[in-house]
Amino acid sequence: MHPIGIFDSGYGGLTVFKSIRQQLPQYDYIYLGDNARAPYGDRSFETVYEYTLQAVKYLFNAGCPLIILACNTASAKVLRQIQEKDLPQLGNGNRILGVIRPSAEEIGKHTQTKHIGIVGTRGTINSQSYVLEIEKSYPDITVHQQACPMWVPIIENNEQHTPQADIQVQQDIQKLLGQSSDIDTLLLGCTHYPLLIDSIKNHVPEHINIVIQGDIVADKLENYLSRHPAMEERISKNQQIQFFTTDDAQVFDENATQFFGATVHSKQINLPK
Ligand code: DGL
Repeated sequence: MHPIGIFDSGYGGLTVFKSIRQQLPQYDYIYLGDNARAPYGDRSFETVYEYTLQAVKYLFNAGCPLIILACNTASAKVLRQIQEKDLPQLGNGNRILGVIRPSAEEIGKHTQTKHIGIVGTRGTINSQSYVLEIEKSYPDITVHQQACPMWVPIIENNEQHTPQADIQVQQDIQKLLGQSSDIDTLLLGCTHYPLLIDSIKNHVPEHINIVIQGDIVADKLENYLSRHPAMEERISKNQQIQFFTTDDAQVFDENATQFFGATVHSKQINLPK
């Protein structure tokens, strides 16, 4: 088995995996959620680096030639470091892709006013990764950002349909939209946030496009594989999916369905240091 590995701090990456599997059903996949240590959003660079590297090594050891970091926090904070410092030693021509660049390359197609809003974890927003990446593709776009540090804990605790969650979303959206009345596009820069979509839509005016990453990342992955046939040939194609979590497997299975849109059977693992 040489599956595509998909990693997130917890459940959020399942929203991306759902799109990837729909678009590219022929491949084998391993999904790994580090639920025991989620959320990553407020953690230091060193901690996110250590945890993400452990997950990357685990997935490579499990036979994955290609890993998608389906986590904005990990992509923003540590992807480059792992690609430059660790990947050459981990070797075998294996590759790791993130979610920031594909989203940044796509976002300019959605805005008329050239003012976009981004919500994400504190780690993602403070890294300025989106601002830097979007500037490379669209120097004329102004990016307005808002960290929403409570949203991932709300979702990991399965509280997204509570009145408190709705109030929190309202407050954070108001802070973002208060930065500019020209914002016509809102990027959900965290793979967990599609689970709050009902509440987000309640508080975002209808003329603003809400952009979700799943389909963008799936499109870019398909494109990447068509441009890298040697990698595409290495990936096994039996339509097998395995789910691993670092926390309780039964709890994962109960919660994962709403993110993934299908029944999930996971296995609990420990990530070796
Ligand atoms: N899904 C992760 C992201 O896209 C959540 C990060 C976290 O664990 O705080 O950023």
